[in-house]
Amino acid sequence: MQARIRHMTAHDVEQVAALIHASWVSTYGPLMGEAKAAEESAKKHQPAMIASDMKRMHSESFVAEEPTGRIVGYAYAKVTKGVLWLDRLHVAPDHRGSGLAAGLLHAVIVNYIGEGSISLEVIKGNDRAIRFYEREGFMVTDERDACGGIGGVPTLIMRKAISRA
Ligand SMILES: CC(C)(COP(=O)(O)OP(=O)(O)OC[C@H]1O[C@@H](n2cnc3c(N)ncnc32)[C@H](O)[C@@H]1OP(=O)(O)O)[C@@H](O)C(=O)NCCC(=O)NCCS
Repeated sequence: MQARIRHMTAHDVEQVAALIHASWVSTYGPLMGEAKAAEESAKKHQPAMIASDMKRMHSESFVAEEPTGRIVGYAYAKVTKGVLWLDRLHVAPDHRGSGLAAGLLHAVIVNYIGEGSISLEVIKGNDRAIRFYEREGFMVTDERDACGGIGGVPTLIMRKAISRA
């Protein structure tokens, strides 16, 4: 079913939190262990935290919504210390390969025309995401050994220049 991309509102918070949690367990479970993925996600993605992130200065939250009202995609970006980060990008499994992820990414970028570049951190072994980002023009600029503070989980930092035209 076709989904429409729009800015996120407070009404979307519960569905977005559930989407992120399911996505973390299925994507990162095989990479860091299901219990750790579930535990980290439960710590980081409480609905109240997602709601507060949405209100953060210099941040943008987008969702993709089916005509039924089901939320099937979510992108969250923020500027921290002068650097634009794509902090979260999740598409429901039944919408992967549909172009929705690119649509969400492009919605973010259009909202940040004027920034020089957009960066992200991706867990090593998340090959589908890495392939997607490469296709979208991101390049690896650094490697880290802790994902957003999760010890022992090696990651890549990827960056893409944002064109002003
Ligand atoms: C990352 C994500 C948003 C990308 O959206 P998507 O709809 O799956 O992306 P696309 O299908 O457009 O592109 C994925 C690419 O990886 C390829 N791919 C699919 N499975 C793959 C695998 N196991 N290994 C490597 N590449 C793979 C696809 O063929 C496609 O490449 P192509 O266009 O050259 O054929 C989505 O997969 C997702 O929500 N994943 C879980 C959450 C996540 O990891 N988010 C990123 C956090 S940094």
